[in-house]
Amino acid sequence: MTTTLITGGNKGLGFETARRLLAAGHTVYIGSRDAERGRRAAEQLGARLVHLDVTDDDSVAAAVKTIEVDGGLDVLVNNAGIEQRTENNEVIGAADTTADLMRHVFDTNVFGVVRVLHAFLPLLQRSAAPVIVNVSSGLASITGATNPAYVYPGVAYPASKTAVNMITVQYSKAFPNIRINAVEPGYTKTDLNGNSGVQTVEQGAEIIVRMAQVEPDGPTGGYFDRNGTLPW
Ligand SMILES: NC(=O)c1ccc[n+]([C@@H]2O[C@H](COP(=O)([O-])OP(=O)(O)OC[C@H]3O[C@@H](n4cnc5c(N)ncnc54)[C@H](OP(=O)(O)O)[C@@H]3O)[C@@H](O)[C@H]2O)c1
Repeated sequence: MTTTLITGGNKGLGFETARRLLAAGHTVYIGSRDAERGRRAAEQLGARLVHLDVTDDDSVAAAVKTIEVDGGLDVLVNNAGIEQRTENNEVIGAADTTADLMRHVFDTNVFGVVRVLHAFLPLLQRSAAPVIVNVSSGLASITGATNPAYVYPGVAYPASKTAVNMITVQYSKAFPNIRINAVEPGYTKTDLNGNSGVQTVEQGAEIIVRMAQVEPDGPTGGYFDRNGTLPW
């Protein structure tokens, strides 16, 4: 039996990933920073619930204890993420990007990933087939960003996901027994972007679900969307 934790699993891509992995037979914990939102989502899914705020050491440590007592962890999906926008749902551009804004976004999208990954490493190391999926973004690609077709004006969000890509590569080399990959779901209609995305969550979750089920001889240290490998 494969046990999987999805951070930020109470809605959006994390919720859909949980639904699909439950259907595939995984025991799924959804992590939620809000008890009530988490309870409702877990009930709807038939998933287990663990309180988990990726910016909070104590909540992450408590989540590790809960999952350890229950039997351990095989798959970690680092899905929780934020993108700061204005009240009118406009991306905050370079001129308005402050150190505080960067810190806020990095706290969840980058330090949150490292906090959770570091805390769950001992459990993952005990798994026979450990897997980590880091939910990145196509906006993370520097090759993409230097192409004139890349028109996204924000700084904090794509920089945070570029950091997630580097984190993925470095951890994959440090832990060759763990399959660790970064994935780009594609521009998906969720609360993150004020529901302006063009894909459904079913389409967006596809690569997350696939990489969560990667075999021990499958890729590691890669960056993928549902059509294949992406350029860094
Ligand atoms: N949608 C897209 O087009 C798109 C494209 C590429 C990549 N992504 C990535 O996909 C991932 C999921 O995003 P989504 O589109 O599904 O957005 P979403 O619907 O806004 O869901 C984000 C989830 O992350 C949770 N979260 C935020 N901060 C957290 C924290 N400090 N601790 C724990 N959970 C936290 C949210 O919890 P609350 O409900 O409590 O806020 C929510 O469950 C993100 O990493 C995002 O960057 C999205």
